[in-house]
Amino acid sequence: MSDSVQNSPCCGETGHPSFLALDEYIETLNINIENPRRKDTLIQTLHKAQEIFGYLPDAVQVHIAQSYSISDAEVSGVVSFYNYFTTTPKGKIQVNVCLGTACYVNGADKVLTEFEQVLGIKAGQVTEDGKFSIESLRCVGACGLAPVVTINQKVYGKVKPGKVRDILENFLVEESENVSEEAVHA
Ligand code: FES
Repeated sequence: MSDSVQNSPCCGETGHPSFLALDEYIETLNINIENPRRKDTLIQTLHKAQEIFGYLPDAVQVHIAQSYSISDAEVSGVVSFYNYFTTTPKGKIQVNVCLGTACYVNGADKVLTEFEQVLGIKAGQVTEDGKFSIESLRCVGACGLAPVVTINQKVYGKVKPGKVRDILENFLVEESENVSEEAVHA
């Protein structure tokens, strides 16, 4: 569908609204750079940054390090220690293909290849419009449904390569219906 990108367009621009939102959040913490305990809030700031940007690229980590007056290495050490932080961009719609043993022996690699072809990106990449990303996962605990794919929170079992286009189209239709319903009830 489109080319891949490795970084969101926002992340070299510290005047970007996402950076302003992060700065607004950091301001509420009243960080005192003289206080050795200021790092107590570092993890919550990283969480907030990941919520805002979707991931934690170098530019965001450096920005946070400067806000806390600590080294870049200290921030990147925390980011790499906790596996819920990611430095890889994700799409708004995250396709995860399980490549655990049960899924693999049932053809998950072919399912992954089909998603890659349909979306025009490889696992670990994001479409240029930031809409889709693909990841491969280890066992997600639903081996009876192998091969398993999740798209955001939705689980698809016994997925065949020939069903990949239908799955994506149905997901998009359901998403747009949900958005319309929310608009009606707003
Ligand atoms: S191996 Fe895929 S769900 Fe267990």
